[in-house]
Amino acid sequence: MTTFDDIGGISTEFQTHLSPTRQPKVWAIGGGKGGVGKSLVTANLSICLALMGHKVVAIDLDLGGANLHTCLGVPIPDRTLSDYLSKKVRNLSELLTPTAISNLFIISGAQDDLGIANLKQMHKAKLLSQLGELNCDYVILDLGAGTTSNTIDFFISADQGIITTLPEPTSIENSYRFIKAVYHRKLKMAEELLEIGPLIDQAMNAKLSQNSTPADLVNRIIEINPTMGMKLKSEINKLNPKLIINQVRTQADIDIGFSMKIISKKYFGINLDYVGYLDYDATVWQSVKKRKPLLMEFPNSSLVNNFDRIIHRLLNIN
Ligand SMILES: Nc1ncnc2c1ncn2[C@@H]1O[C@H](COP(=O)(O)OP(=O)(O)OP(=O)(O)O)[C@@H](O)[C@H]1O
Ligand SMILES: [Mg+2]
Repeated sequence: MTTFDDIGGISTEFQTHLSPTRQPKVWAIGGGKGGVGKSLVTANLSICLALMGHKVVAIDLDLGGANLHTCLGVPIPDRTLSDYLSKKVRNLSELLTPTAISNLFIISGAQDDLGIANLKQMHKAKLLSQLGELNCDYVILDLGAGTTSNTIDFFISADQGIITTLPEPTSIENSYRFIKAVYHRKLKMAEELLEIGPLIDQAMNAKLSQNSTPADLVNRIIEINPTMGMKLKSEINKLNPKLIINQVRTQADIDIGFSMKIISKKYFGINLDYVGYLDYDATVWQSVKKRKPLLMEFPNSSLVNNFDRIIHRLLNIN
């Protein structure tokens, strides 16, 4: 049994059961708006993976609103990301805190203003590389709300970026804003990687029609310089964000995911992969009130099936 005393370094159970060479897959959960279910999704996807036998570390990168620990049923741990960001601890693995689920650990979020929004470039690079060194199979990041550049960078750097939204106009608008921020960041990265700044400027200066879209810009670049244009398109194609619609009540709510997929392709040229939906269900807020993980506390909740379907899609298991 792992105890809180084990985590002076890295918990002994965690260390001995894992091969030191494995490199975790990183999944990042984002979305433009607050309260759309990012922490719910982070906590319960982490639980699904852990119950499937994977070693999982869930990390709360939410600025100011760190509450992933509540969704996972643990009190605020003694050590949080605040200690890492203020350099009290040097290694992320020193922050690993066990949960009631044997394969699942949490790194709890900063409990002060020292959040990822304030991370300097160098610290961000270090944090990102340390995520890849955590001795586990999956690292699941709760990015919190918003589209700050650090949040977008973590989303893009992850092996899988997952966007959560509600089937409401304000939430959908925020999701497009999030996708737009991801697109622009990727364009900037491709510009630096391929050294195509002047080409992009040329295409932007060309008179595109008033209704032209980011996807049109890439097509214009392909017309001017097919080789570099196709390379740019293939960089943009690497963006393959996943979409979850949360709090659905009707078939029309479920169908919003399919519309968003079509619009993202048409407007941004981005393949948005709609991996599933979560029902609106009282067990969600009941589990939050009880400070217990939903999937463990309510095994008969309709969300158990919802999450089962989503995790199979994310893992490409049919
Ligand atoms: N499927 C659902 N059914 C019913 N209530 C839900 C559902 N999903 C979320 N909620 C309610 O919305 C609240 C917010 O969910 P959650 O904390 O996961 O959102 P969040 O995106 O992480 O928010 P924040 O941006 O503030 O961190 C939950 O505490 C719960 O009360
Ligand atoms: Mg949250």
